[in-house]
Amino acid sequence: VMTPVLLAGGSGTRLWPVSRKSFPKQFAPLIGDETLFQASARRLSGPRYAAPIVMTNADFRFIVAEQLTSMGIDPAGILIEPSGRNTAPAILAAALTVAQTDPDGLLLVAPSDHVVPDAEAFGRAVDLGEPAARSGRIVTFGITPTRPETGYGYMEAEECAEGPVALKRFVEKPDLAKAEAMIAQGNFLWNAGIFLFSARTMIEAFRTHAPEFLDPVQAALDEARHDLGFLRLAPAPWDSLPDLSIDYAVLEKADNLSVVRFSGHWSDLGGWDAIWREAQDGAPAPEGAVTDERSTAIDCRNVLLRSQNEGIEVVGIGLEDVMVVATSDAVLVAGMDRAQEVRKAVSALKSKG
Ligand code: GDD
Ligand code: MG
Repeated sequence: VMTPVLLAGGSGTRLWPVSRKSFPKQFAPLIGDETLFQASARRLSGPRYAAPIVMTNADFRFIVAEQLTSMGIDPAGILIEPSGRNTAPAILAAALTVAQTDPDGLLLVAPSDHVVPDAEAFGRAVDLGEPAARSGRIVTFGITPTRPETGYGYMEAEECAEGPVALKRFVEKPDLAKAEAMIAQGNFLWNAGIFLFSARTMIEAFRTHAPEFLDPVQAALDEARHDLGFLRLAPAPWDSLPDLSIDYAVLEKADNLSVVRFSGHWSDLGGWDAIWREAQDGAPAPEGAVTDERSTAIDCRNVLLRSQNEGIEVVGIGLEDVMVVATSDAVLVAGMDRAQEVRKAVSALKSKG
């Protein structure tokens, strides 16, 4: 068995203005009755898996606990990060926690905001990767790319096979020109953002590639405080950590990466363009115009028009490649190819005060 680690600390700023600091997308029922977070927890439950560890922050702790309890899942731990320092320290904290009881214990790290409908197919991919993880590899899961997406990591596989194969290169979030070149080359896969490794392997990888994380994260664990079933990591060491994702901190540098191809449906609902694409999965909208009950598209192509506000009707006329999202206090209007930049809106508004 392996310990699932659910990453549930991101604020989902690329889905502004619907995703807000206090209630990001992964906790809202987006598809069906379950939230994305619950669907992720369910996917990683069953005979393959031990009780999960959840990495999150103080704002989300009660939502996390309640959403797990309501589905009968008793987590091994809910760790509270004092501040958002991205995925590198969160993953290291989980690895150090598992290492306390079993240094060779396996961890399966997964985001909590993905759509992966076929849990069994995903489980089979995990089974394929397990021996590689036991032998000291960091196993990633590869998705066949369909467009030059700039919001994902790209992985160059040494050969084309179903089982785990070694990775030549990992490139996080390339610019458009690089993404296009990698797609043209053909042997690249998208990084699904799901990782399987032993605690020892990940700790060693940090020691080699990002040693500055080790002492502060260990100190934050040593000085952590138990509070109502949550484990609050100590703020002083944690807040001193760099804000860095695992992709930049470790994966781009590591030489012990393997990839297992996953050919089931997978989607990171990370931006409005992904929501637009996902909305058309199975039922393509005419002219790619995706609307909801409070919005209307007239003579539009490839648009997403949405209103989360009962008092606002959104009407687009003659638009192309545009997204409009209205809420009670904000309206986003952006080019469809600028979805990754929506996080800039949040920082721009923050600096305005
Ligand atoms: N606990 C915790 N703390 N979780 C976090 C934090 C944090 O500080 N920051 C982000 N997360 C969570 C997010 O909520 C999400 O579930 C997951 O970690 C990944 O973060 P994202 O911010 O969504 O990353 P990304 O989508 O830009 O890129 C990653 O995923 C892509 C595929 O979805 C990378 O791994 C890419 O290489 C990959 O292609
Ligand atoms: Mg993401």
